[in-house]
Amino acid sequence: MSLPAVLLLALVAPVLALENGLLRTPPMGWLAWERFRCNINCEEDPKNCISEKLFMEMADRLAQDGWRDLGYIYLNIDDCWSSGRDAQGRLVPDSKRFPHGISFLADYAHSLGLKLGIYGDLGNFTCMGYAGTTLDKVGQDAETFAEWKVDMLKLDGCYSTQEEQALGYPKMAAALNATGRPIAFSCSWPAYEGGLPPKVNYSLLANICNLWRNYADIQDSWESVLSILDWFVKYQDVLQPAAGPGHWNDPDMLLIGNFGLSFEQAQSQMALWTVLAAPLFMSTDLRTISPQNMGILQNPLMIKINQDPLGIQGRRILKDKSHIEVFLRPLANEAYALVFFSRRTDMPFRYGTSLAQLGLSSAKVYEAQNVYTGNIISGLQDKTNFTVTVNPSGVVMWYLYPVRKRAQSQD
Ligand code: GLA
Repeated sequence: MSLPAVLLLALVAPVLALENGLLRTPPMGWLAWERFRCNINCEEDPKNCISEKLFMEMADRLAQDGWRDLGYIYLNIDDCWSSGRDAQGRLVPDSKRFPHGISFLADYAHSLGLKLGIYGDLGNFTCMGYAGTTLDKVGQDAETFAEWKVDMLKLDGCYSTQEEQALGYPKMAAALNATGRPIAFSCSWPAYEGGLPPKVNYSLLANICNLWRNYADIQDSWESVLSILDWFVKYQDVLQPAAGPGHWNDPDMLLIGNFGLSFEQAQSQMALWTVLAAPLFMSTDLRTISPQNMGILQNPLMIKINQDPLGIQGRRILKDKSHIEVFLRPLANEAYALVFFSRRTDMPFRYGTSLAQLGLSSAKVYEAQNVYTGNIISGLQDKTNFTVTVNPSGVVMWYLYPVRKRAQSQD
């Protein structure tokens, strides 16, 4: 960012506080991109192309298969939905693929108790070359989205300069506010700025966006999950304090149900994203997802942890020489989420430790519920030694909660 842009942002951002009161917990839902990309070939691939039919079918699944009732309420369109602008300069959806228009889709989502998200790009074009939102179009596009009764906007940043982004993102936040419709604002801005200070000012960003992409796009592979995780851990001192109710770091979509992850890896992504207080945007075919993958995504205790009201992002607290890593997220009611994550590639590893060794010294007696198996371990005091068996590239995840104070005589 050039100096004038930095100064300008510092001046305008506090005035343009988003203040929409939305997303006090990380958003949950479904986002088309990772799985369905820019497939616009409805002639040959009608079931999988980006069209209103795809979104209506996913809406039906969200409503009927238990997703909505667990909190997965956002149905989000990504790139490749528009055909350009009309004579008045208003964005228009592709008339073949979205014959009834976006407001029809919003009504459909709302009728099922869901919310509709849409995608735009601050710049001359979207990343796939569709109509972008140049600075002069920000206000008009915000009004269009509000008229369509859209509930979330993901604003990408392809084909714009740093200066345009520094002006455009706060401008869009203000324009969304001005519509009077609560529209959650997902910004890709930091990802285009390298995701780190001094280029990215996370305190300012929290006033402008409800969530933001910090880093590279996720791809359908374990390698991609690890590269994102590694980056989030490397910079956790910067990123962890940036998250909180109403403003979240977004490590990108969940791959669970697709092609690149083993069962253990799918469990790991879910556990790690949850401990990072990340948005839970699935991007998979909900019409054909297996019961096993559904089980991972619909784990009620996992969701309760992800949606913890304190909204504190977790951290990696330990990297053991055995290649076991431990992540910790503080939760409401003095509880914690603990994730034991294996980077090993050999066999299930027996990792022995105690709460005290993990930095959790206290006079309380804890119980731990294994989030995936449901097993409960009782009577854990800080010096109690315990062992968890962690599968290669897998996790053991605990919900740890105090049950009572340790009796005096035991101290
Ligand atoms: C960028 C974003 C992705 C997706 C594509 C669409 O790469 O980071 O999440 O929205 O654009 O073109």
